[in-house]
Amino acid sequence: MAKVYVFDHPLIQHKITYIRDKNTGTKEFRELVDEVATLMMFEITRDMQLQEVEVETPVARAKSKILAGKKLGIVPILRAGIGMVDGILNLLPAAKVGHIGLYRDPETLKPVEYYVKLPSDVEERDFILVDPMLATGGSAAAAIDSLKKRGAKNIKFMCLIAAPEGVEVLQKAHPDVDIYIAGLDEKLNDHGYIVPGLGDAGDRLFGTK
Ligand code: PRP
Ligand code: URA
Repeated sequence: MAKVYVFDHPLIQHKITYIRDKNTGTKEFRELVDEVATLMMFEITRDMQLQEVEVETPVARAKSKILAGKKLGIVPILRAGIGMVDGILNLLPAAKVGHIGLYRDPETLKPVEYYVKLPSDVEERDFILVDPMLATGGSAAAAIDSLKKRGAKNIKFMCLIAAPEGVEVLQKAHPDVDIYIAGLDEKLNDHGYIVPGLGDAGDRLFGTK
């Protein structure tokens, strides 16, 4: 069964509060999402593999460590996931970025896929799929289907806010994909919005309504 990690780091929790606040405007919302993405990425990469190397310091030769293992691919779910990409690339500027375009049909709440573009070496990369919201879980589950269909094997899912309903759906659909969350909320409302959540992540990021 997939593991669920809820990040309780004080800096993450502090920033999430202002992200939730309806009085936070687009500019500040964007900056906060960017910062939280960086902080979450710092935690998520804790298990990255290292290899030992030698380096010449101004004083002596030293044994030291650099990142080893598989290369990373970051995949935002369009469009709101885009708001998390720069924050992640702050830490891993060489990571390749794929895109999966999905929107939720407002009537059925089912995801509709309209765009997929991934790095050509999908099978050789570990992937981090990012989207600020995990609501019904339909979008994240469909995006992971899409990644797996194209050869991705090792995937993590990172979101800012999740509903318990979405976590359950995703765990059932993809028991091999661990889920990383900044805020685990109470429930979904009748329109499939997370309560208390933060509203519509895409609209708040891009100033649309
Ligand atoms: C939002 C959000 C997720 C999806 C989550 O996107 O960014 O992708 O809803 O909902 P789910 O878990 O019920 O599938 P939306 O469909 O509003 O599209 P947008 O990012 O283009 O605004
Ligand atoms: N998508 C959002 O942007 N917000 C929600 O609360 C649910 C889905």
